[in-house]
Amino acid sequence: MLFEQVVTGGCLSYLVGCPDTLGAVVIDPEISQIDRYRALATRYGLQIRFIIDTHTHADHFSAAQQMSQLLGAPTVMHVASPAPHAGRRLDDGEMLIVGNLRIQALHTPGHTRDSMCLIVGDRVFTGDTLLIGGTGRTDLPTGDPDQLYDSLFGKLLTLDPALLVYPAHDYKGRSHSTLGAEIADNPRLQKREREAFIQMMRDLNLAAPTHMTEALRTNMTGGKTVGQLLAEAAAEVPHIGLDELSRRLAGRPNDLLVLDVREEGAFKAGHIPGAHHLPRGQLELRVNDEIPDPTLRIVTYCEFGKISTLAAATLRGLGFMRATALDGGMKTWRESGYPVET
Ligand SMILES: [Fe+2]
Repeated sequence: MLFEQVVTGGCLSYLVGCPDTLGAVVIDPEISQIDRYRALATRYGLQIRFIIDTHTHADHFSAAQQMSQLLGAPTVMHVASPAPHAGRRLDDGEMLIVGNLRIQALHTPGHTRDSMCLIVGDRVFTGDTLLIGGTGRTDLPTGDPDQLYDSLFGKLLTLDPALLVYPAHDYKGRSHSTLGAEIADNPRLQKREREAFIQMMRDLNLAAPTHMTEALRTNMTGGKTVGQLLAEAAAEVPHIGLDELSRRLAGRPNDLLVLDVREEGAFKAGHIPGAHHLPRGQLELRVNDEIPDPTLRIVTYCEFGKISTLAAATLRGLGFMRATALDGGMKTWRESGYPVET
């Protein structure tokens, strides 16, 4: 099989392809790596047929829905997944066939209700059910240590010990293990009595993952992350650098409107000289009165350079086709020593 592991911090994702037919799947793709998966597929001449999430991730942003839309290939999850964008749903024991690859789902609830492991040839993609030297946690939404016990000891660990283990996470730079090595050495698997295992999982007291609510919201519903919204807006509008704006303002242009979209207090405390104030929250309501000329060149800015991008995209949507955003915000403007008007 053609195989690539893509590491994003502690997240591990995979491109697995059939060398004969060049069909492929992506497993647990991470949102910042979309171009990489596509580039890797191109390098091998692979066509991505399915995008698989082993479970609803609570700790990172899945690229499944976006890749599905880009590639026209369905997102695959377990039947228990709440994600409305999952176009194929696998039940325990069912297989996806991609060329000569057989990708078999093993339902392994516990980390989440919709967790599954994927057996492909000599390896098993364990998601967060089994990690190298660890297991997925069971204290997040739909987690259940009792179910994890059954999934591990009653299912996954009864498979061929020679199977290579490729998990969805590793925080120590390891790429894989084997089931046999995990049975022998994984500290979490040494509690082989149900009650002791459950107690150990309950006593872990782990901190909530960063971005958990946003990850769950977007991964469960297919909604957008804040980063995605900003990236989409940024792709729609050109930006202007601080230096360029400063240089242009020095020439006292009469065809350039600098628009401060922050709240009133922030504007009054100090703004770019000559800036017009129109808070982003009131943009649509007041724009007709305040900016009658849709051909005007507009540079929006805010405190950090993010909301201004959304504001410029909104203005473009309203027909202000020369709306641009400042690359940076008032904070950088101030700290760089450019003039401030109060
Ligand atoms: Fe997870």
